[in-house]
Amino acid sequence: MNTDTNYYDRIPNNVNLSEDKKLQRALEKWLPNYLDWWREMGPDGFQEKDVWLRTAVDVGSEGWAHFDYVKMPDYRWGIFLEPAKPDAVVGFGDNYGRPAYQEVPGEFRNALRRIIVTQGDTEPASVEQQRQLGKTCPSLYDLRNLFQVNVEEGRHLWAMVYLLHGYFGRDGRDEADALLERRSGNPDKPRILEAFNQPCDDWLNFFAFTMFTDRDGKYQLSALAESGFEPLARTCRFMLTEEAHHMFVGDTGLGRVVRRTAQLMKEGDVRELGGIPLDIIQKYINFWFSYSLDLFGGEISSNSADFFAAGLKGRYKEQEQFTEHTAANQIFTMQVVEDGQLKPREVPLRNALNELLRGEYVKDCEKGLARWNKVLAEEGLSERLYLPNPRFHRHVGEYAGHYFDLEGKLISREEFEQRQAEWLPTMEDREYVRSLMHPVYEVGKIANWIAPPAAGIKGKPFDFEYVRL
Ligand SMILES: [Fe+2]
Ligand SMILES: [Fe+2]
Repeated sequence: MNTDTNYYDRIPNNVNLSEDKKLQRALEKWLPNYLDWWREMGPDGFQEKDVWLRTAVDVGSEGWAHFDYVKMPDYRWGIFLEPAKPDAVVGFGDNYGRPAYQEVPGEFRNALRRIIVTQGDTEPASVEQQRQLGKTCPSLYDLRNLFQVNVEEGRHLWAMVYLLHGYFGRDGRDEADALLERRSGNPDKPRILEAFNQPCDDWLNFFAFTMFTDRDGKYQLSALAESGFEPLARTCRFMLTEEAHHMFVGDTGLGRVVRRTAQLMKEGDVRELGGIPLDIIQKYINFWFSYSLDLFGGEISSNSADFFAAGLKGRYKEQEQFTEHTAANQIFTMQVVEDGQLKPREVPLRNALNELLRGEYVKDCEKGLARWNKVLAEEGLSERLYLPNPRFHRHVGEYAGHYFDLEGKLISREEFEQRQAEWLPTMEDREYVRSLMHPVYEVGKIANWIAPPAAGIKGKPFDFEYVRL
């Protein structure tokens, strides 16, 4: 364990909080507001139950994942950053090679605060979206995983609030307060990004959300983990270690649904047998994949260029993947809609970095699809799942306001509206999925619409009492 890890402080941390009294007081003032929010908007109905949870007690490879029974409100939400590197430099852009920023560069203060607030806002939003899911969990194993994701999203909010309080003064504190005031799906004070206002009220949504939307988080955090603003980079690097589990939950969750559906397809009619038909799974993929693509922002973006130039937001694996770190005087070609047709357009690479990051994300999602298709193949079925074209069903960027089919072909609005029910979940689809969602709270038992996991958590078997009810 790090010598400077203060796990038993009121706010566990490895940032020497007790030496910065002003910041400590500010965060201790925010803490009860956070707990009020958690009790009001965190998992409904399970606050007093013992849950077998992983708690971060340190960032070291050994000590950061400590497992024990915890009541969620007693979870040790802490502030953990990867250790500082004394010789850290700006890794890309116009200031490449200069010492990393330990304070916010003045001219980017507002933009950087916006990035942190936008990232921070997604964390409590997802807890709010998922707060009723415990009531319909398919197993205790899944219930634990849901709560693990929830408490860690709460910790990620802490990580962002630490940056706001620690580096942005008064307006940072105001933003930190506002993070507890917005509510997912509330028309008067919605969360900032649309995917985080969409209902996530059944477990198929939850698995698709953690597969596709948490994975957007992985790519945003990865780009920020490259940041020349060191406190942000160190925060994001540690968050990524926790985020990996969220994507595991979604990826394997959907894989288990696919397996069960495949088994039922061989027995007869999936609906009659109480499973989720493959075409509904495909529609959920189409829905969450397209909404998650929007989270990367516009295809052509001067913000992305400015942020890269300033050394604040890099490319995915900037240090590992690239030898040239200025990305200047390079061209990126993308398809845009012009005069009612798709046409190639050349843009400076720096203006295309959102699209570049989105491309990395799509490749990663394709690997998930390959894993699920392997399940279908293992079960002896010839059906396959796929990702829609990234132009399909977009609400942000170059393709918003235009209509595309699943292959990415430009179509009319009328055609889209006619065929929408084939491509995206209908009310009836959603109601059908919801009709299957009955809680299974018995140790070692599982709902009929999903297969059990290949293994339990941290060496425990599937029939371990992951949550004591
Ligand atoms: Fe998160
Ligand atoms: Fe997450």
